[in-house]
Amino acid sequence: MTSTRLEEVRRRHANAEAGGGPERRERQHKEGKLSARERIDLLLDEGKFEEVDKLVRSRGDGDQVIDGDGFVTGYGHIHGRPMFVFAQDFTVYGGSLSEANARKICKVMDLALKNGAPVIGLNDSGGARIQEGVLSLGGYADIFLRNTLASGVVPQISAILGPCAGGAVYSPALTDFVFMAERTSYMFVTGPDVIKTVTHEDVGKEELGGASTHNAVSGVAHFMASGDAACLQMIRRLMSFLPSNNRDDAPRGPRTDPADRRDAALDTLVPSDSSIPYDIKDVIRRVADHGDFLEVHEHFAPNIVVGFARLDGRTVGIVANQPASLAGCLDINSSVKGARFVRFCDAFNIPIVTFEDVPGFLPGTGQEWGGIIRHGAKLLYAYAEATVPKVTVITRKAYGGAYCVMGSKHLRTDVNLAWPTAEIAVMGPEGAVNIVYRRELSTAADPEALRREKAAEYRDRLANPFIAAECGYIDDVIEPGETRPRLIRALRMLENKVDTMPRKKHGNIPL
Ligand code: HXC
Repeated sequence: MTSTRLEEVRRRHANAEAGGGPERRERQHKEGKLSARERIDLLLDEGKFEEVDKLVRSRGDGDQVIDGDGFVTGYGHIHGRPMFVFAQDFTVYGGSLSEANARKICKVMDLALKNGAPVIGLNDSGGARIQEGVLSLGGYADIFLRNTLASGVVPQISAILGPCAGGAVYSPALTDFVFMAERTSYMFVTGPDVIKTVTHEDVGKEELGGASTHNAVSGVAHFMASGDAACLQMIRRLMSFLPSNNRDDAPRGPRTDPADRRDAALDTLVPSDSSIPYDIKDVIRRVADHGDFLEVHEHFAPNIVVGFARLDGRTVGIVANQPASLAGCLDINSSVKGARFVRFCDAFNIPIVTFEDVPGFLPGTGQEWGGIIRHGAKLLYAYAEATVPKVTVITRKAYGGAYCVMGSKHLRTDVNLAWPTAEIAVMGPEGAVNIVYRRELSTAADPEALRREKAAEYRDRLANPFIAAECGYIDDVIEPGETRPRLIRALRMLENKVDTMPRKKHGNIPL
């Protein structure tokens, strides 16, 4: 080999690593953002990154030739497990997507799919590379196709760490979990200027599509981080709960929290007055290994809580109504949030543990006209089609249609348990008394006293866990303090569960 050839190799590598140069990198840092390579270093296990296509060049390059074309793609490890990664480098043509870049992303996605490893995309881009026109648009569509084909086969994660606008938002939207960094990231299909022209609305990009907006209002994002470094750490933590693909089990955590651990505090956690709220996350943390719970979609639809925990070292997906928010009722947003999470768990062999305390569906024209019928059906559909191990614990209310939806026995849930505080009935005592005793109440001398008396009677006779247990819809009424050992024993029993769906191309979930 000639020394000039060796020099050429070194020169090209150095050119790729320099990206858009020190000035643009400095600007990136001043804005509180890291460079693509710095991000990958923080994301992956130290020294484990193997770059692919570092020397790719863009066909449309004019005066600025940058090896690698600004996108950094390759593979490495997180907690010792292989992962495929791409990161857009905003210092090169604003991280915009060229045809060459799209091919680079497609190459690592194809490798990830063949090798059963997750794909993590770090987005920071001005969108389609303007100079390349339709070649760039075609590149996006090639990526969208792969996102769709990989869905349910390998976990796909997107971090938004800068701009993500126009059609470019649809690649993250097709992935399983979207992370956003506060203040430095934003996503929108049409930006503030176009909105101003078309609808005359005045809105800034942060309010329109910043991290808080997409975490709390639209539900597009699942996690919000204080900055790049925190975001990359959060992704590492999420990956510790997830399997690498749809044939693998999730990595097993330490089994240092005793499987037979009782928790007496659970016996008194639910207030005796069923109109008083409590925090369902207290229940989750008391039951989970070491109280460790990674909440997903924390800021969106807080009336349902979803996330990952471990029981006896094994990952479980938790779905729980939250009495501390809207009394834990189901509405459009919580139904969609729950449904998507249940489907993720089912696709990736993660057992689903449901904690139920739900007074019913939220009433109102806003909900009915917004399509609560269609959206509520999503959650029902997701639970019914899920074939992973399913265990439900009714802590308090399980009323009406919501009883059926939240992992009831009738939707082929394997083990259904109830606490003594459970109230399982068609509706709450007040509503039931008003309907059943309407005539008596209208003629009673003291309607309030009659209402109280009949409600107490109803509560004793109908709103309890025993009728459901007598029918076998509840497998057992348990002491709340026993919940963790009972769940672990149920999940051990279900470890080799096999259940199937009828042969079909795919179902038609009410989207
Ligand atoms: C080529 C681009 C670019 C693009 C930015 N740059 N966007 N180059 N194609 N799409 C370049 C700039 O020329 C500049 O180069 C550098 O990146 C940094 O850009 P600035 O504007 O200086 O940065 P900033 O002020 O931070 O603004 C960032 C920005 C803005 C908001 C992203 O650049 C912008 O509005 N860009 C255009 C966004 C856009 O409309 N994209 C198309 C969306 S539609 P120098 O050399 O000066 O450093 C789309 C369709 C996808 O993407 C369809 C998929 C189906």
